[in-house]
Amino acid sequence: MNLKQKILVTGGLGYIGSHTAVALQEAGYEVVIIDDLSNSELFVLDRITQITGIEPEFHQIDLKDADLVNEFFQNNKVDGVIHFAAHKAVGESVQKPLMYHKNNLLGLLNVLEAMKENEVDHFIFSSSCTVYGQADKMPIDESAPIKKAESPYAKTKQIGEEILEDFVAAFEKNVISLRYFNPVGAHPSALIGELPKGVPNNLVPFVTQTAAGMREFLSVFGSDYPTRDGTAIRDYIYVCDLADAHVKALTRLIQKQNKSNLEVFNLGTGIGSTVLEVVKAFETVNNLKLNYKLVERRAGDIIEAFADNSLAENELGWKPETSLEESMRTAWEWQRSLP
Ligand code: UFG
Repeated sequence: MNLKQKILVTGGLGYIGSHTAVALQEAGYEVVIIDDLSNSELFVLDRITQITGIEPEFHQIDLKDADLVNEFFQNNKVDGVIHFAAHKAVGESVQKPLMYHKNNLLGLLNVLEAMKENEVDHFIFSSSCTVYGQADKMPIDESAPIKKAESPYAKTKQIGEEILEDFVAAFEKNVISLRYFNPVGAHPSALIGELPKGVPNNLVPFVTQTAAGMREFLSVFGSDYPTRDGTAIRDYIYVCDLADAHVKALTRLIQKQNKSNLEVFNLGTGIGSTVLEVVKAFETVNNLKLNYKLVERRAGDIIEAFADNSLAENELGWKPETSLEESMRTAWEWQRSLP
């Protein structure tokens, strides 16, 4: 008889999803993955299996298809859902707002509907620090106002959280929304990591691809910000630390330790790093020099964002354990493992 709790991980072949699938299996959960492979690769399934020795069940399903989603829930008794599946490129969302709203919100609605129909009670939502817009105060805690979203992507996360408010109020479900800062790094095995399609938008994949000779130089966007070295500040959180927070949040719901039906936690290190500090950490730990140029600011970038993570520490018992250097070491190991 199988007594393991079975957890659905949507987007489980993606960057954070795959690391969380590993962490869930290591914590003793049974994992079933749904992914549409729109921004992920099937080989990640084998990699998860290589790391943990357990092959997760996998279903290629587009969550926009309500019938398929409901059919999945009818055929699979799951104890909880961690919902990663979403489009996530901020810049692209400005060009393709309808695609973002359709994919991110329809997918969410179909999963929630199926949870309601099939009596699944626990839900973890991938939210983002972008819900705060340009926050007035640093560090940002969870009581900071939800300001106007800077992009359609951010708006889908704001609306997602609002939908969840109504969902828990009407159906007595339990939800935790996790607001990520900037996830970086790769699994220490170098078997899974971030797999950007095309030219990376995000800093760390661009750094590693530059070091690998795939890009001529890194453009550091803006060197005239009012910060200690003129470059913008972010909170870079190691992806495996992030994955652990999901396991803790899920376990909190399953063990009924949550204090309200909808809880929200920031997931960041609490430390702000400038772009040049990230470059330096990468160079130091990997003992190499990175080719970079200081260029104009990137449109839409904010000056700084870093988390007050004390709520997650106090309530989830979660503390990020990995330094920026160690994250940069794993990011480079992962890059070097790629063909
Ligand atoms: N940066 C560069 N050069 C680059 C890429 C980035 O200097 O080639 C700088 C950016 O200007 C910024 C910092 O590095 O100051 C981080 O940029 P990222 O693009 O990596 O990440 P963002 O802070 O823009 O993060 C946003 C949202 C996240 C979201 C992420 C995903 O805040 O919630 O985009 O795309 F997850």
